[in-house]
Amino acid sequence: MSAVSGRRLTPSQIASLEAIPDKEDLSIEHCAKIPAAKYIDPARFELEKERLFKKAPMLIGASFQLPRIGMYFQVKILDTPILVTRAKDGKARAFFNVCRHRGTQLCAANQSMEGSRISCPYHAWTYSLEGGLIGVPREDAFPALDKTKYGLIELPCYEGGGLIWAGLVPGAKVDFSDVSGELVDELHAMGMDEMHVYNSKTYPLKANWKLVMDTMLDKYHVLRLHRNTLAKYFDDTPEITDLIGPHIRSTSRRANRGPEALDYSFEGVRSTTVFGYALFPAGMIVASPLYVSFLILRPISVDRTDADYYMLSSGPVTDEKLQGKLKRSFELMDIAFGQEDFWAAEQCHIGLASGAVSELLVGGLEKRMEVYHDLLEKRLGLT
Ligand code: FES
Ligand SMILES: [Fe+2]
Repeated sequence: MSAVSGRRLTPSQIASLEAIPDKEDLSIEHCAKIPAAKYIDPARFELEKERLFKKAPMLIGASFQLPRIGMYFQVKILDTPILVTRAKDGKARAFFNVCRHRGTQLCAANQSMEGSRISCPYHAWTYSLEGGLIGVPREDAFPALDKTKYGLIELPCYEGGGLIWAGLVPGAKVDFSDVSGELVDELHAMGMDEMHVYNSKTYPLKANWKLVMDTMLDKYHVLRLHRNTLAKYFDDTPEITDLIGPHIRSTSRRANRGPEALDYSFEGVRSTTVFGYALFPAGMIVASPLYVSFLILRPISVDRTDADYYMLSSGPVTDEKLQGKLKRSFELMDIAFGQEDFWAAEQCHIGLASGAVSELLVGGLEKRMEVYHDLLEKRLGLT
């Protein structure tokens, strides 16, 4: 039994569970419009960079990437190469992944690494995981070098609820209040802070990052685009949508849900109820009965986005039967994301970039999209 199994849902999560109405009570009448330019205009992307990505806390990783002291990984958000470490004090720290000698990237590995120090591959300047410069070969060649002034350049960083957030501008004040507090309580109740990675994959996408977010926020497509993969697990009703700060929580029934299945622990409800969190601005968590899907979107340019997908389990997967199930689930999600959701985002980008349509229509089963876009506009100072 995992340590997660005894955790109880928060009162707010329980309230959203209990608010799921009977199917016949649901009304989905709604229609809104989103201008196509938001997805294809390079000036809009620049605005998002300046007013959002460089100001808001950005999701840069998760605690499961640093399960032990002495671990580190690298990630690139926009044009910012970031090194994330867990030093002896257990704290997660973020730095520019850039050597202070001549600017080389210190770590280029695609997976988490382990070691008490990080050595630059070029001339072997060495840094502690706290960011201090601790070794310079042939130091006599740099007679006036004050090593205390040449530590790694630190970025504001916060870890909570199993997620790691950072500001992309060194020294700039970042308000982490939206990613702490209530969000952390909810993710804790789901065990996000103790999850293990079963498998992961990065998808380089030719699509605007918001089109990828839209596929995660749209319930309308589930029975249609996913007709051969996920459709059988879901029904065609809207979800209960709540805001946790700027993050959108959705609570919805799985196709098999009956009142007898209600329970107030995450382990108890996950087989019948789907909790999803659209993490602002660019991430997603969706709970399935056996695993949790976790997605970090990394915008690159107006028409390019990298999507890191992680399939998480509540504990290490040693049981062979569970391993087999997760293997099949990962293959399924690789199709559902890679060949369906992400494919749809790319197709949409091609269509919008043609200039054929000036706006998108959003119906009652896509309401979460509208909520999300309203939040974005507000954050960008456009409304
Ligand atoms: S660039 Fe890193 S040691 Fe020279
Ligand atoms: Fe989907």
